[in-house]
Amino acid sequence: MQQKLTETIHTTAHVTEIQTYGTVATRPIALDHRVRLASANGLNQILADTMTLRDLYKKHHWQVSGPTFYQLHLLFDKHFGEQAELVDALAERVQMLGGVSIAMAPDVAEVTRIARPPRGTEDVTVQLFRLMQAHELIIAETRELAHIAASGGDDGTNDLLVSDVLRLNEFQVWFINEQLAGTGIAVDSQPAV
Ligand SMILES: [Fe+2]
Repeated sequence: MQQKLTETIHTTAHVTEIQTYGTVATRPIALDHRVRLASANGLNQILADTMTLRDLYKKHHWQVSGPTFYQLHLLFDKHFGEQAELVDALAERVQMLGGVSIAMAPDVAEVTRIARPPRGTEDVTVQLFRLMQAHELIIAETRELAHIAASGGDDGTNDLLVSDVLRLNEFQVWFINEQLAGTGIAVDSQPAV
């Protein structure tokens, strides 16, 4: 049976989907279809960006070097783990609303608004600025969607966005920002990345 299924998946050009990405199925949660669709679409954008930020943290966890290697190696992995928990919460909120959560790396790469970093290793200061830029983008879109969700009556999405996504991102920005203290590099003079 397993062998037959594997052959089918590998040889069938078109495997029928039971729900198309970008749609929302009916859910008895007393929320209008239009509201659930707007929340699911907005959450998928934040999900794609959060998955990208999560992976950026792991990239920097591996590739960081210099006198601050040990503390940043540990800090980046802590933030990676916390972002990974957000990814799961965001994806499951999309499903709760009747939507289809974005999941696979090629799809995430097409959707994310976070700039793609080079494959190679960058200087630690550039790594920190790149992380802060990604955080700020997510914070801005999270606040915007939180307001939209609240105005439509989607309190669950608003709560997830404000209590979890916004709070964690602001907290992590604090830690990343403080790493730049004493470097003589002003935060508002970010290098182009
Ligand atoms: Fe590790």
